[in-house]
Amino acid sequence: MKQIANFIVNGKPYEIAIEPHMLLIEVLREELGLTGTKYSCGIGHCGACTVLVDGIPILSCLTLAATVKDKNITTIEGLAKGTELHPLQRAFIDYGAIQCGYCTPGMILSAKALLDRNPAPGEADVKQALSGNLCRCTGYVKIVAAVLAAAENMRKVAKV
Ligand code: FES
Ligand code: FES
Repeated sequence: MKQIANFIVNGKPYEIAIEPHMLLIEVLREELGLTGTKYSCGIGHCGACTVLVDGIPILSCLTLAATVKDKNITTIEGLAKGTELHPLQRAFIDYGAIQCGYCTPGMILSAKALLDRNPAPGEADVKQALSGNLCRCTGYVKIVAAVLAAAENMRKVAKV
């Protein structure tokens, strides 16, 4: 039986009728049309479906939507400010850290959670933070370099 649930997604409130078995990824992609969140393995192995719930990376393919009612959910669509990309998005482009791009939204959101709690991570911190996000294309070197560069840029901007 459907129930009405409230969600805050990328700062906007939504009221949606959900079934108890609905997954968060279904709500995001099918009810809200936020298809930046990717569905890949569906069993918690790849991280493509990563979104932030109250700033913490979670796997939306394993999360019942009803368990994140009233929480702040951030998807990749919530990062850019108008036409201005988030520094992580900019760095992924500049460093060639995107090939097919399927892993990229989840990678960037995991990286954002890291930089929010640790603005000056080392390479090992980045690798640890991204350890749940698989990429079949890039070999990870450019991804790690992009996250470190974004962190540096964000620190410079914070000092200005
Ligand atoms: S689609 Fe969720 S972990 Fe792979
Ligand atoms: S860029 Fe293709 S899976 Fe990562």
